[in-house]
Amino acid sequence: MRHLLTLFDLTSEEFHDVEKIARHLKARWAAGYREPLLQGQTLALLFEKPSLRTRVSFEAGVTQLGGTPLYLTQDVGWQQRETASDFIRVLGEYCQYVVCRTFSHDTVVELASFNCIPIINGLTDRAHPCQAMADVMTMREAVGDLKGKQLTFVGDGNNVARSVLHACGLAGMKFRLLGPTDYHIEQEWLDQVAADCDDLDAAQSTDAKSMLSGADFVYTDVWTSMGQENEAKERQKDFAAFQVNGELMAQAPKHCKVLHCLPAHRGEEITDEVIDSDQSLVIPQAGNRMHLQKGLLAWLAVENKQLNRSQLQLQ
Ligand code: CP
Ligand code: NVA
Repeated sequence: MRHLLTLFDLTSEEFHDVEKIARHLKARWAAGYREPLLQGQTLALLFEKPSLRTRVSFEAGVTQLGGTPLYLTQDVGWQQRETASDFIRVLGEYCQYVVCRTFSHDTVVELASFNCIPIINGLTDRAHPCQAMADVMTMREAVGDLKGKQLTFVGDGNNVARSVLHACGLAGMKFRLLGPTDYHIEQEWLDQVAADCDDLDAAQSTDAKSMLSGADFVYTDVWTSMGQENEAKERQKDFAAFQVNGELMAQAPKHCKVLHCLPAHRGEEITDEVIDSDQSLVIPQAGNRMHLQKGLLAWLAVENKQLNRSQLQLQ
């Protein structure tokens, strides 16, 4: 059974295949086709933290594919009424996929270990693979071939940064992180990603000039992630020199595009002038969450033998 907990769960070919299916489904939908590829299938959503994009893009996406979303609230008693094993095995009797958003990454690892229903990581403290895959789709739409293009992530080496680094590596892009040294991505993760990607080109530094001069994309995320609220004051101080504002963008090439996974803390990690500028891709970026995840669900359905690949009508 296939799960998506991190991008390590996909080969490089599969990573590109999901995006290919997503682009195909996006084009088919835009051309007016309404194909119920996942008719009769149910996607459960199990969230420990709030969400707009991940929740609604999965709900809308599975609906567009003819399936049904089921957002589970506290009253199902997850982590309260029974063991994780009983809970997820029962869910596997009713549903075909679970999207799970948790604080601890270990929680999704445990759910996947029972191997009774595909678990899709909808963000943990470690990774946000659906976000990063959709971001690659957005960047490809913006500039075409991504080989050798550079993404500079400004700020915290967090869940989003880790997955974006990995996605850049799989897409043949250079990755740079500009931010305080104490918040750089751990060497262990970098080493694992390097082992998973051919010729990974990644660097982290506090030096804006060297990190920004070759940037084709500047990406940022909040300084304080969900669950870190008690560190907010300290983080505001630590990241103050790394705000994505007009001055910082002036150090990047003029053609450089701006990405943010959202939600943004405007006035902290990014200013209105940048996020609302012509360089900003943040709204289509959020839109592509749905298209990419439709591709992911269809790909998983094929992998888990619930859909015949020929039904995708890929050329
Ligand atoms: N980018 C993202 O995952 O947004 P949500 O927290 O709204 O799902
Ligand atoms: N790093 C942020 C991303 C939210 C989509 C968080 O974990 O809160």
